[in-house]
Amino acid sequence: MNILVTGGLGFIGSHTCVELIDKNHRVIIADNLSNSKIETLDKIEKITGVKADFHKIDVTIDSQVEDLFKTYKFDGVIHFAGYKAVGESVEKPLDYYYNNLVSTIKLSQMCFKYNVNKFVFSSSATVYGDNESPLKEDMELLPRTNPYGETKAMSERILKDANKANPYFAVSLLRYFNPIGAHKSGLLGEDPNGIPNNLLPYVSKVAKGDLEKLQVFGNDYDTLDGTGVRDYIHVVDLAEGHVAAIESLDKGVNIYNLGTGKGTSVLQVIESFVKVNRVDVPYEIVGRRPGDIAICYADNKKAEEELGWKVKRNIEDMMRDSWRFEKS
Ligand code: WQD
Repeated sequence: MNILVTGGLGFIGSHTCVELIDKNHRVIIADNLSNSKIETLDKIEKITGVKADFHKIDVTIDSQVEDLFKTYKFDGVIHFAGYKAVGESVEKPLDYYYNNLVSTIKLSQMCFKYNVNKFVFSSSATVYGDNESPLKEDMELLPRTNPYGETKAMSERILKDANKANPYFAVSLLRYFNPIGAHKSGLLGEDPNGIPNNLLPYVSKVAKGDLEKLQVFGNDYDTLDGTGVRDYIHVVDLAEGHVAAIESLDKGVNIYNLGTGKGTSVLQVIESFVKVNRVDVPYEIVGRRPGDIAICYADNKKAEEELGWKVKRNIEDMMRDSWRFEKS
């Protein structure tokens, strides 16, 4: 299929492009490089042998998006492009609502106009709010504590209504848990600008000596060791989930949790990273981070049953692959 991948040079987008190309799909990448690097395009080519078409565009701008739909006959869209830092969304809510919602609306409008009837959306477990884990797709969504999470829940509602108005416009909403790890080549991985917000990139930078020590945000949660529990999923497993989703998408609104179904605590992540990579990760326990919940992990049976998708990589693989990327 001809697939438009917005945000295709980002962390999850680039890994998904590799898996799509490996399955002989034609990938067209649109990215404004606000949180990604043009070098990633060459790395995708190094891994796959294919130079994907790339367009540096802002998918909130009508003319730029329409030029793409005029140029290519897309069979589907995978929409990754969006701002995704929870803390930043609290400081800049209007930027987040504008960018994340207008991009979804513009792309959907173009799909309507040019008869593109497969739309896979990058959603997030954050839409569940503080529902009890294991989280299931048919749960009622609870209010979120940050604008980032709101933009994901609102985008889901926009796409559901779009499908209601135009049943040919089939939608897949993929709710990610905590994507970590990196491609085994060490060429692709999570490379945030500045000080990382997320746990794994921070741990990797401490192991490398770029940062002095990790702050563990609280050890007084009601969990096995008091630290936060999350469902860490290897980014390549996540990428494979996107390929399965777009290949099987033909009608309606399909919601899937892309997680492993297993919870891992912060201290268990540190212990695993140290053991697998034989490095030191100094840390100190500090206060809780505002907005954090204690436990979040998926019930992933629906994706496994309906998409024929299976998680293949475990926490040790994630630690090993993250460290290989950090070192490279
Ligand atoms: C994981 C655990 C922290 C950093 C966020 C977004 C979510 C999704 C993934 C986009 C928690 C602890 C972290 C640190 C720590 N992003 N931690 N010290 O908050 O689960 O999810 O990223 O879709 O929407 O909310 O991920 O990696 O920030 O935190 O102790 O320096 O690690 O308290 O328990 P989170 P995270």
